[in-house]
Amino acid sequence: MPRDYRTFMKNILIPEEELQARVTELGAQISHDYRDKGRLLLLCILRGGVVFLTDLMRKIHIPHEIEFMAVSSYGTGVYQSSGQVRLTLDLRTSIEDANVILVEDIIDSGHTIASVLAMLSERHPKSLAVCALLDKAERREVFVPIRYVGFSIPNEFVFGYGLDIDEYYRNLPFIGTVDLEKFKTP
Ligand code: PRP
Repeated sequence: MPRDYRTFMKNILIPEEELQARVTELGAQISHDYRDKGRLLLLCILRGGVVFLTDLMRKIHIPHEIEFMAVSSYGTGVYQSSGQVRLTLDLRTSIEDANVILVEDIIDSGHTIASVLAMLSERHPKSLAVCALLDKAERREVFVPIRYVGFSIPNEFVFGYGLDIDEYYRNLPFIGTVDLEKFKTP
């Protein structure tokens, strides 16, 4: 069983109400930007982006599809010299005529999204943009264009609202920070 998160949480970085308010704003912005632009596809990168996607899509008031893809995980994935990550689950539809928005929970080094952008560009979508809930810019190693950002956050270990700590607590409705000392202490 995982430990109670209250034993290692430092503070709540983004409370539920702030998350929901920002997601509502992003949904309105996307609805405005893509109105009358043709096929819109929200492409979620598993698994962290799922909670954000399911809230965001309900705040987008124009027709759209959703799809999922997965790449090798941050912890175990081996970045190739080009900074590429391995595709472990591909989407099932062609994106050639689609305006694609990649939906991510967090952009850290940028390698994941940079690789995904490179892969998808080869499939010639009508347009390709990134929507990330959290941007940890201090950790960036490769440049990535992010069209929609929920929150810029400091270089802290965060969890909740889709982000896990040892695979748990993705269900929390807020973003919390981890006290690593307390987390490591049994
Ligand atoms: C996290 C997050 C991003 C990636 C960001 O995924 O969801 O995909 O790391 O890091 P980067 O910018 O340094 O590449 P993770 O591999 O932890 O998997 P998960 O989404 O299944 O939790």
